Amino acid sequence: MSFANFKDNIDEGDTAILYLSANSMHAIEVRPKIKNKKDELIENVFQTTYGALKVRDLIGKKYGSKVELSRGWAYVLHPTPELWTLTLPHRTQIIYTPDISLIIFQLEIRPGSVVVESGTGSGSLSHALLRCIKPQGHLYTFDFHSHRVLLAQEEFANHGVAEFVTVAQRDVCEFGFGEELKGKADAVFLDLPHPWKAVEHAADVIRESGE
Ligand SMILES: C[S@@+](CC[C@H](N)C(=O)[O-])C[C@H]1O[C@@H](n2cnc3c(N)ncnc32)[C@H](O)[C@@H]1O
Repeated sequence: MSFANFKDNIDEGDTAILYLSANSMHAIEVRPKIKNKKDELIENVFQTTYGALKVRDLIGKKYGSKVELSRGWAYVLHPTPELWTLTLPHRTQIIYTPDISLIIFQLEIRPGSVVVESGTGSGSLSHALLRCIKPQGHLYTFDFHSHRVLLAQEEFANHGVAEFVTVAQRDVCEFGFGEELKGKADAVFLDLPHPWKAVEHAADVIRESGE
C-alpha cells in the first residue's frame, strides 16, 4: 500500500526502493518469502552488486534508513512516482519525469481531475497522474495489449492506488474511449504510435472546459 500515502515504517507488501547509488536503484516488493521455479516457498533474498539482502529484514524499518547488505549497505526509500519511473519493469518505452512534469503542468491536471490516458504501457506516466489526481479524481487508462493491461492492474493493486484508476483493454484508435466517458474528461493524453487516429475520439470525451 506504499504509494497511496506517505508513512514512516515499512510493512510487508510494500514496494520499497533500494538505493545503492543515483545510478543503481531497485524496486523491491517486501515479501519475506517467494516461490521458486518448483513452486516452493523459499526465503526472499535480493541480490545486488553489494551483496545480498534478506527482504524480511526490511519489515518494520524506517523509510530512509540505512540497511546492511552482505558486502556493503544501501538506503531503503519510500516509493514515489519519480523513483518508480527509474526502477519499474520496462514492458514498453516509457515517459520520464521531466516530460511528465510538463505534461501535468500543460494539461492543468490537479487533485480531482478526471484524466483519460492511452496507452498504459509500463504505467510510468500513470503513477504520476494518480498521485496528482487522488483522492477525488480518477484515471481511465487504455491499452490494446492484454498482458500489459493485466500487469498494470496488478501493479496498481499492489501499490494501493487501484481505487483511483480504471484499466481497460481497447484499441482506442478504432473504438474510442466508450460512451460512458463522453464529455467527462478534464484532460486526455495519448502516447501511441499513431495518436492522430485517436484525436476525434479524444474530442468526444473531453469536457467543454477540458484540455
Ligand atoms: C510507449 S507505450 C506507453 C508508455 C506509457 N506512457 C508509460 O509512460 O509507461 C505505448 C502503448 O500504447 C499501446 N497502444 C498502441 N496502439 C494502441 C491502440 N491503438 N490502442 C490502445 N493502446 C495502444 C501499446 O500497447 C503500448 O503499451
